[in-house]
Amino acid sequence: MMSGRHHYRITLSGETDREGWRDAARRLLQHGIAPEAVSWLVEGRPDDGELDLSPPASLPTADAPQSLRPVRIAKDLLALINSALLHRNPDRFDLAYRTLWRAQSVPGLHHNPADPDVLKLNGYAKAIRRDIHKMHAFVRFRKIGESGDREQFVAWFEPDHHITAAVAPFFRNRFTGMDWLIVTPGASIAWDGKALAVGPGGRKEDVPQQDVVEAEWRTYYAHIFNPARVNINAMKSEMPMKYWKNLPEAELIPALLEQAGTRVAAMVARPGETLPIHDRPRETVAELPASLDQLYRMLERQPDAPMEKSSPTLVRGAGPDQAELMIIGEQPGDQEDRQSLPFVGPAGQLLDRALAEAGIDRQQTFLTNAVKRFKFSPRGKRRIHETPNAGEIAYYRWWVEQEIRLVNPRLILALGATAARSLTGQPVKIARHRGEILPGPEGRSLLVTVHPSYLLRIPDEQGRQVEYAKFVRDLQLAAANVSQ
Ligand code: URA
Repeated sequence: MMSGRHHYRITLSGETDREGWRDAARRLLQHGIAPEAVSWLVEGRPDDGELDLSPPASLPTADAPQSLRPVRIAKDLLALINSALLHRNPDRFDLAYRTLWRAQSVPGLHHNPADPDVLKLNGYAKAIRRDIHKMHAFVRFRKIGESGDREQFVAWFEPDHHITAAVAPFFRNRFTGMDWLIVTPGASIAWDGKALAVGPGGRKEDVPQQDVVEAEWRTYYAHIFNPARVNINAMKSEMPMKYWKNLPEAELIPALLEQAGTRVAAMVARPGETLPIHDRPRETVAELPASLDQLYRMLERQPDAPMEKSSPTLVRGAGPDQAELMIIGEQPGDQEDRQSLPFVGPAGQLLDRALAEAGIDRQQTFLTNAVKRFKFSPRGKRRIHETPNAGEIAYYRWWVEQEIRLVNPRLILALGATAARSLTGQPVKIARHRGEILPGPEGRSLLVTVHPSYLLRIPDEQGRQVEYAKFVRDLQLAAANVSQ
């Protein structure tokens, strides 16, 4: 256990090495090592001027499990830290560990907003949310060429914090149909229609600032994004040296080429390291989550969830791991959020009744939502539902597709406009398309119908009954399609 004489220096592999921080923090806690005895360093970061000549104590590794202290970390504290660790302030690793350490003896610590450490962590997390929001809104792509039927774009952006890798899935979801590269001082991210890649940062002057497409850029990026045609020597000869001298050639270009060339699972900053983006290229099946549990755990760890007005609780889908029928709603409501289960509140109870009338066994059906967290605005003690926006729907789309792949349903039933939009990628008029079999994701059949909460909002009894009967009919149609 801890001795006051020891000092532990933990070196993280980079500014965004949150996995490294988490592993070290867990081990430090297990060994009862107090924050005052730990310094957090980052490889490649200029020395902070403090010269420490004492040899660092190494972390004990092989203790018998029974001698390790149990570690308690609340999920929402971990989510808060996960976000705050992207802040640029070098004190963040220390602050986060100190808070975790203190939370071991004060379990609700992170719910005390007046605590100075919690206050600071919340401030960091808020700055990260703002920065992510700004990057979502203000990245401006310049078109630099075309390859086959795909257009290629590049953008320069200077975030305030270390958020670049964290926002990559957002840009992939929003700009799926084009190839793009976003260069920032700390990291670059790229999408080629198949895989997201993260490489080292670049410089502003490396990135064209107007839409005028220069032939050299066109050729260069055509090569970058078309792995089958990569030929570094040809590329170098086609690419004037004036560009090469400004590009961090030794880092950025080879990294991008390597990733494009092998269609790697995802952008490894260093071999053997945990992938910086919890996101997998669609075609590499081995890299995709193998179970729903793994999928939801991955989603829980995503640092860039649109949390501005949302509960931190991720509400997982419920039902058998494989089901013939999958029903997708909008987002969890107040009750669902409290119980961490989908469709358990008033709309869920109405759905239960209608399912039973349509002869559908809820226990055999997989129920989930297009958006996985409850978005609301507080009003006194109540939390009033807010409709998710297009960005929030897009954010969760890939995760919904993965649920579909894993559950492998014969038919998907979308309840309401949000689910229909998530599953088709565009706004859908429910009144016009209900009753039609539409093409859904992953080649599945899709039916759309109204959301049960719409039925609850109809003010007159008679209107409600008519709409309820139509809803049951849609469920019967779904049942008939599944049993065909
Ligand atoms: N509404 C939904 O769309 N989903 C739920 O889980 C509950 C209400």
